Amino acid sequence: MNDHERNDFFYEMFHPSLARLGPGSEATTLRALDCIRAAMARDEPRRPATPLRILDLGCGTGPQSLVLARHLDGRILATDLQSANLEALRRRAEAQGVAEKIETRVHDMRTLEFPERSFDLIWSEGALFCMGFREGLARCRNWLSPGGFFAVSELCYLRPDAPPECRRYIEGAYPAITDVETNLSAMRECGYTVIDHFESPVTDWLDEFYNPLERRLNLLRERHAGDAERMDMIQGIQAEIDNYRQYSAYYGYEFFILRR
Ligand SMILES: C[S@@+](CC[C@H](N)C(=O)[O-])C[C@H]1O[C@@H](n2cnc3c(N)ncnc32)[C@H](O)[C@@H]1O
Repeated sequence: MNDHERNDFFYEMFHPSLARLGPGSEATTLRALDCIRAAMARDEPRRPATPLRILDLGCGTGPQSLVLARHLDGRILATDLQSANLEALRRRAEAQGVAEKIETRVHDMRTLEFPERSFDLIWSEGALFCMGFREGLARCRNWLSPGGFFAVSELCYLRPDAPPECRRYIEGAYPAITDVETNLSAMRECGYTVIDHFESPVTDWLDEFYNPLERRLNLLRERHAGDAERMDMIQGIQAEIDNYRQYSAYYGYEFFILRR
């Protein structure tokens, strides 16, 4: 396979027919949204005007944009690198009657530019690492209006005592991984107030993401039986799933609710 074919096969695994392309759930998105609504209610004078200007960064097939569109008076700009993901989001938004609240834009977040203070709320579940987590924190802060909110989830160590084989695997896959406290310090240094943070449940990984993904991998195993290179790529993702099943006590997503 050449690079182009490998890239295509990667997106055949992480296919737009999947309802989500990373761990998460509607309940978790709503929990984060409730934190923001409560903070707005506590600080009425600084409540942003509606319709809220919302950015969903690395929106994938749009599970978070759809929840936000249903629950907020706002206009959402949903961005992702993959146009097929955005097409899936647009189809879902039509079906749920919220298409007029969501604009989609194909863009590489590493080169995305907005004027300062363009958004009242930025949402990024499992995607900010694509621009570099710390750099992403700083850039998003500039794009927020003063008092604006940032809801972001990030892969973190949840305990200090991960076994060496777990550390080897996860640091090989994501060398920037660190613990929750270190991420909180980085957020404060960057000028955010931390409103709240919480750990995403294991069900967000398994029931909502890895189990459907694994069904897709099984389908592709049948479709590409005998194709060693594609089998290798499938096995790489299977190893990620197996590692999480074994070590979910030690790492996972922490959801951070921040305010500029
Ligand atoms: C782990 S998925 C999360 C998607 C979605 N937020 C969800 O929870 O289902 C990460 C997303 O980031 C997108 N992505 C990866 N690199 C990107 C980049 N450089 N710029 C924009 N999006 C990117 C991928 O296409 C994918 O949809």
